[in-house]
Amino acid sequence: MAILAVESSCDETSAAVVQDGWEVKSNVISTSRKDFEALAGVIPEQAARRQTECIMAVIAEALRVANMHPQSLEAIAVTRGPGLLGSLLVGTATARVLASTMHLPLIGVHHTLGHLDSPWLAQGLVLAGPGKDREPVFPVLTLSVSGGHTDLWYRTSHTHGVLLSRTRDDAAGEAFDKGASMLSLPYPGGPSISKAAEQGNERAFPFPKPLSGDDTLDFSFSGLKTSLKYLLRDLKTPLTDTIVADASASFQFAICEHLKDRLLKALKRFPDTREVHIVGGVSANDRLRASLSDALATQGVTVRVPAELRYCTDNAAMIGAAAHFLLQESSAATAEFETEASIPLESVVTPA
Ligand code: KG4
Ligand code: ZN
Repeated sequence: MAILAVESSCDETSAAVVQDGWEVKSNVISTSRKDFEALAGVIPEQAARRQTECIMAVIAEALRVANMHPQSLEAIAVTRGPGLLGSLLVGTATARVLASTMHLPLIGVHHTLGHLDSPWLAQGLVLAGPGKDREPVFPVLTLSVSGGHTDLWYRTSHTHGVLLSRTRDDAAGEAFDKGASMLSLPYPGGPSISKAAEQGNERAFPFPKPLSGDDTLDFSFSGLKTSLKYLLRDLKTPLTDTIVADASASFQFAICEHLKDRLLKALKRFPDTREVHIVGGVSANDRLRASLSDALATQGVTVRVPAELRYCTDNAAMIGAAAHFLLQESSAATAEFETEASIPLESVVTPA
């Protein structure tokens, strides 16, 4: 059976039809990001207004592409939070009305659980290890890296596990975005730093290792950002293309090394881990993918990322996948829920 999923937690409006938690019948994404490019941010009221205008068309298109009659749907899933409240309300109000008129159960999904389950869509993309041609297997360590958060999870099922650590300050994507702004590169910073870094030398400028003396799995990126700021201030030369390329490559390398260090440490603590997943917008980064594949190839674990870049960034298909597994594993999947701008990360999973 298939689930119709809706996601509208930030500037995107997305609807998808997902069968059995992995088969993406459709995944339509409309975004108002262009409206906000010059601001390097989002105006919440404006984003919600745009979502009100397009959400029904996006849902209709998702059903059309999936070639799915509404009667063949098993449930409707929607992101219940966290995110921008106005945007979330557009999605949840629409999903509530649809579920009620179509007499279908409604499943409220934590946005982060969607990201954590995104490697199940189309079975994900295996970068290293033995997991090709099969669906992911638990236990799984997931590094969730986006513009809003950076956290590390250990799960023994979709809904059981622990949040091992999170960032103490900026998120990894935020570090890319702020770094790009210092280097006068366009927003979003991840793709532009990654592109500039292609021509650069990643050993040109050494960066400090964050929280290096600490036996913690926590992340911290604000020190790297400050180092970049002082590096550019002290250069005493104009910002040439070569400097931008070298600084981009070195900064990107430092971020990747920090993420890799945490994953390797976590693997030592959880030696029964069978797969390492990298999800969220920053998982699109080629340097990060290469660095983690190299480091983990000898450890016998499968390294998996979402099958396509559009499953790395915010999308409704991942909400459809998460809802399917919630239905399988939790008797509370279809319980009443509130739409909330912030929901504790810890509530995504329960201890095994
Ligand atoms: O998951 P996402 O689309 O949105 C949320 O933050 O929830 O992630 C967006 C973030 C931005 O900070 C962007 O700079 C970063 O992901 N990003 C990348 C790349 N593509 C997007 N960071 C590094 N390398 C990339 N190729
Ligand atoms: Zn997200």
